[in-house]
Amino acid sequence: MSVDWSARYQSGETPWEKGEPHPELPFLLSQHQEVAGDAERILVPGCGFGHDANLIHSVTRAEVLGLDIAEEAIAQAKREYYETGLAWAHGDLFEWPGRYDLVFEHTCFCAIAVERRADYAAAMARLIPENGCLLGIFFLNPDHDREAGPPFGVTLDELMGFFQGDFDLEWSEEPRRTYPGREGKGRELSMLWRRKKIRNLQREWEQPI
Ligand SMILES: C[S@@+](CC[C@H](N)C(=O)[O-])C[C@H]1O[C@@H](n2cnc3c(N)ncnc32)[C@H](O)[C@@H]1O
Repeated sequence: MSVDWSARYQSGETPWEKGEPHPELPFLLSQHQEVAGDAERILVPGCGFGHDANLIHSVTRAEVLGLDIAEEAIAQAKREYYETGLAWAHGDLFEWPGRYDLVFEHTCFCAIAVERRADYAAAMARLIPENGCLLGIFFLNPDHDREAGPPFGVTLDELMGFFQGDFDLEWSEEPRRTYPGREGKGRELSMLWRRKKIRNLQREWEQPI
């Protein structure tokens, strides 16, 4: 099922938009200071109006890019955060080029149609180099039908299945703080995934036996 994100922004049907960064984000950035502080390039895919990207930029001072497929979302992010030096781009994460030391995920994975989830995980593996990280507040949304979305429901087992091929799970925890209305056990999960060593099959093949 594909979603017309521009139409959602045009009609104001944007229940995810809370006017502020996720309340857990300051904790995540300090808890994982060694990851966030060392990152030179950070990507926030599906950034919406850019509140998370702006906070990440102000805390890390890394080169931060907020990316969204909806032009309306990027236009609003640019209006609200025009003086920050943050970079914004209108584009599709599945086709986005480049390499990022850190990608921050928040309600983007759950917005992706179920049949494209493996493509999302593959895009992360392509965008994040060896030893880079995917830090996310994953919206599991267990009471939603996996077909009736967005957001599309996902289980923890499914999440593990999508990411553990290319990433090691270094840390995970239920957020201590969240937006009003998202409280409740099992609705969100913070996770830090580290990109595994990328095997060079060509080089291995060429090794003498
Ligand atoms: C549920 S909203 C979350 C927005 C933001 N992360 C937040 O929490 O406010 C999902 C966002 O992902 C964007 N999106 C969906 N598919 C995308 C894709 N393939 N590439 C980039 N952005 C995408 C949508 O336009 C939308 O802004």
